[in-house]
Amino acid sequence: MKIKRTTAFRFKTFVVILLIVSCSGRINQEDREAASIGMRNREVKKVSQADIYITGLLRGRQIAEAAQLLLANKLKETMLNEDVQKAIRYCNIQAYPVIDSLSKLYRASIKRVSLKLRNPYDAPDSLEDILLNAYHYNVEYNMALQDNIISLDDNYLLYTMPILISDPVCLKCHGKKGSEVSDETLSLLKSLYPYDSATGYKMNDLRGMWSIRLPVREIVNSMDN
Ligand code: HEC
Repeated sequence: MKIKRTTAFRFKTFVVILLIVSCSGRINQEDREAASIGMRNREVKKVSQADIYITGLLRGRQIAEAAQLLLANKLKETMLNEDVQKAIRYCNIQAYPVIDSLSKLYRASIKRVSLKLRNPYDAPDSLEDILLNAYHYNVEYNMALQDNIISLDDNYLLYTMPILISDPVCLKCHGKKGSEVSDETLSLLKSLYPYDSATGYKMNDLRGMWSIRLPVREIVNSMDN
């Protein structure tokens, strides 16, 4: 996935930056000092807020990449060994359990959200909607996309990473109806997702976003090791 870092920002990016700034004072002292508990020699080691953000960003990135890889590999494997219909059934049945198992493994709450939904459960909440719209704004004005971390409250950070149509294989189920997405595929999609609007994408289009809620305590604990 091509995600570049940028310093350029316009209005919506500005809104997101404002959100980051306005929330950034909130990681509480107790959590910052939690790293001390359970450490060798029980000595107090203070962790800076910046360290928590950076560790959270790296952890979020690691989780999103692992989730993406896991889903994409299983999808490709099914399409190679079976067919598109089987792969759709795989996504229909397995996408949620796979993501949930990663949520448990990483003790984080992992979601995929989009503005053009296939599964209605992937609808963004109000904050995710703002962040997702900001990514779309960046695309519209040809600005680079970057992953991001913000503070939600005392206890949680929210990591986001754009999801692009990064592989021609995506188009078999998210591309142009009637050509890239065959009629047979369309009718299966329609039966499983009567309100599906996740077609009509082109290569490198923004498809959605990973949204990963990370407990600050977990981040701080991971800094002990
Ligand atoms: C074989 C068909 C198929 C292919 C290929 C496919 N998808 Fe999907 N995609 C689905 C289905 C089915 C769902 C709904 C899964 C569910 O019910 O949780 C979905 C859901 C999604 C979602 C969640 C948002 C939503 O609308 O529910 C994203 C993001 C997504 N796909 C991105 C991709 C990307 C990126 C690729 C290429 C790497 C890709 N998909 C390839 C069938 C496919």
